[in-house]
Amino acid sequence: MPATTTAGPTPLFSPGFAINPEPTLAHLRNTDPLHLLAPGVIVVTRYADCRAALVAPGLSAAGGQADRKQRSGAATSMLNTDDDAHRRLRRPGHQLLGPGAIDGILPTLRSQFSDFFAQVADRDTVDLATEVSEPLATLALTCALGVQDGPEPDGLGHLFAESAAALDPMPSADGAAQARRAVAKLDTWVERHLGTYPNGRLGRLITPDVARDDVVGIANLAVVGGWAPLAELLTTAIELALYNPDHRQAALGGQASTWCEDVIRWHTPIPFVARKATTDVDLPGGVVPKGTQVIIHIGSSGRDTEQFSEAGVAIDRPQVRQHLALGAGAHFCLGAPLVRAVLPVALDAFFRGLPGARTRGTLFAWRPGVFPRRPLSTAVLLS
Ligand code: HEM
Repeated sequence: MPATTTAGPTPLFSPGFAINPEPTLAHLRNTDPLHLLAPGVIVVTRYADCRAALVAPGLSAAGGQADRKQRSGAATSMLNTDDDAHRRLRRPGHQLLGPGAIDGILPTLRSQFSDFFAQVADRDTVDLATEVSEPLATLALTCALGVQDGPEPDGLGHLFAESAAALDPMPSADGAAQARRAVAKLDTWVERHLGTYPNGRLGRLITPDVARDDVVGIANLAVVGGWAPLAELLTTAIELALYNPDHRQAALGGQASTWCEDVIRWHTPIPFVARKATTDVDLPGGVVPKGTQVIIHIGSSGRDTEQFSEAGVAIDRPQVRQHLALGAGAHFCLGAPLVRAVLPVALDAFFRGLPGARTRGTLFAWRPGVFPRRPLSTAVLLS
């Protein structure tokens, strides 16, 4: 059972925590790993507990997502179903986003990214987050979903950005209303796309076992869950490589995929995920009673020095894929092959296309905010 309600240096999810969460998370890992946040809600912070919680059959993702589903109007999806219902949706998801599918789009992505940088190369400056990472994330998702020839190709970046509002697990009333509108708009757009392109990558997922609404849910989840985290990760990785020549060398050399993987652990764009206990669940740190809402702080797990010897990004880390930033178990991120493919391709295209790119500053900085956790954007000087 959780033993205490003391949250450490600054309370969890408070404004102070949003600016710098790590002191509180380190305190909880050391003293109170199954922290009782409120009656019936615990926060798990150690790597061993987070991993065990992600794979525990008694912790339901559907239960964890129930509030969010109701608030944002999210469709039934892989993320808010369990067991057979989840496995049924996972199959078409894998067909769309699995390693084979992503290998098939890589040549197109490479050429689209290099065209993108050819277009910005004559600018004096660009904002890294909004003028580089977000457009690259839009290109990656449109390519993966096969919607680049869809009815509104020019407005897709905007539509994806609006839909990202539904990712916030703790929105204000206005934020929740905005998320509901954005999700409805995205769904309408996907339905129109399916009507116009029945034989596209999304349309081909429809079979006697996979309904049109299922495909709308898969596309919706890929956009809501994937666009913003991918854009933020691209900003983080490019910023690190711009600030530090050792990181740049690692990002562009033979160890690029190891370095990129460790950036995913270090940044962890999705800091926590939610579950509900359908039975008493044994974790290494204690028992989670049936009915408890569990917040699994995967961001904290990636900084646990019991598991990862140093907290910063490492160029050569053994077992680099052990991090939990992409989840674990049945709900492991379906976008992982896309994320892992896009990151090195984007870094290569960035430094090839903009060889003189540099920043004014020398310090990587985070933007305040609990979810998602984002780096401050940087103005990149090109000439
Ligand atoms: C850096 C970027 C990303 C991060 C850090 C990330 C992280 C995660 C995490 C932690 C989960 C597990 C959620 C849970 O267990 O409750 C997840 C699930 C998922 N992700 Fe990602 N994701 C990223 C990008 C993407 C992209 C680009 C896509 C789609 C193209 C995507 C599609 C999905 C889907 C469909 C699921 C649900 C899988 C299931 O429930 O079976 N993600 N992601």
